[in-house]
Amino acid sequence: MARDTWFETVAIAQQRAKKRLPKSVYAALIAASERGQTVAENVDAFAELGFAPHVIGALEKRDLATTVMGQDISLPVVISPTGVQAVHPDGELAVARAAAARGTAMGLSSFASKPIEEVVAANPKTFFQVYWLGDRDAIAARVERARAAGAVGLIVTTDWSFSHGRDWGSPKIPEQMDLRTTVRMMPEGLVRPRWFLQWAKTMRPPNLRVPNQAGRGEPGPPFFAAYGEWMGTPPPTWADIAWLRELWGGPFMLKGVMRVDDAKQAVDAGVSAISVSNHGGNNLDGTPASIRALPAIADAVGDQIEVLLDGGVRRGSDVVKAVALGARAVMIGRAYLWGLAANGQAGVENVLDVLSGGVDSALRGLGLGSVHDLAPEHVLVPPGFARALGVPGDPTA
Ligand SMILES: Cc1cc2nc3c(=O)[nH]c(=O)nc-3n(C[C@H](O)[C@H](O)[C@H](O)COP(=O)(O)O)c2cc1C
Repeated sequence: MARDTWFETVAIAQQRAKKRLPKSVYAALIAASERGQTVAENVDAFAELGFAPHVIGALEKRDLATTVMGQDISLPVVISPTGVQAVHPDGELAVARAAAARGTAMGLSSFASKPIEEVVAANPKTFFQVYWLGDRDAIAARVERARAAGAVGLIVTTDWSFSHGRDWGSPKIPEQMDLRTTVRMMPEGLVRPRWFLQWAKTMRPPNLRVPNQAGRGEPGPPFFAAYGEWMGTPPPTWADIAWLRELWGGPFMLKGVMRVDDAKQAVDAGVSAISVSNHGGNNLDGTPASIRALPAIADAVGDQIEVLLDGGVRRGSDVVKAVALGARAVMIGRAYLWGLAANGQAGVENVLDVLSGGVDSALRGLGLGSVHDLAPEHVLVPPGFARALGVPGDPTA
């Protein structure tokens, strides 16, 4: 990778993304909701946790590899599904290729812009993510398409409450990229020419359709039509989750669990994994940082199912903190989106390299030889840090 495109931290990737993307696309990645309390807390909470490094005793080599939902991965970091389409023309294919090149798995959003068949071809370790949208037959049809395509796991995301007010104003996402929209975005194009040129070279505008919501080979509905149908779908029950788990029959994650009582219900519904997550602060603002909820959930169900975490992970030391506090692995969202915006596939590889280098350094500093040796005692947790949500009578709940 050319030196001038390489970045040494995710923060620098974010600065580059901000410079490169039109304002509205950048704002769509910032996302969040209401006053942005949770999105900020996800990141800030990691900075409250600390380490006590050894000065002698580091091991020569460190082992970062683990498994998630039956897949061998080279570091405890998985791509979290995100549905933002217009970051880069190669979109999810660039992300899938980068994840495959670095030996990890990919969650593909049901609101992604590329067909699942192409994404699985780029990375066979693909988990398909489902929103509860349409009736059981429609959901079953999508899941069967994912199975036929070779998806190796399902991620079901239910933590969405359709809150769309933001104190800094929401970006205007167009219905479709037609001539009128292109003309309206021209002023943004003049100040962000590299992004526009990238698309111009492909001779195709960003595809604001969601191909995985339809049958194989169909273009899929426009994003907003799918979103509208989602809003009109009755929210799922635990029986629905158990039904889908049964139908799928393979590795199955419920993403977005923040409470111990929900985690226990998820175990009863038969899931094989959960991600402790608040949807990257995009759902109900005021939800605590996911890292605060992790220890109690890992304690309660960590010996029965795989517990992952996502939200606020920006560096390898964050990964180490989460694994020490009970996560098997973390999933990343914005971190790889910044990389994708900054430098396409190579930018996502760069982000994964930054994280793996950071995990390795933290293990070295702690004198550990493997991510599997991490335990809560390796992290300095200030009093009152954790939140045991959904535990009756717990003062931190
Ligand atoms: C722009 C954007 C789009 C997202 N789209 C989806 C999605 O389609 N499905 C889903 O399950 N989660 C979605 N998420 C949530 C991520 O999977 C993940 O939970 C979150 O980004 C983690 O927080 P982080 O961005 O701080 O890493 C989205 C997040 C962002 C920022």
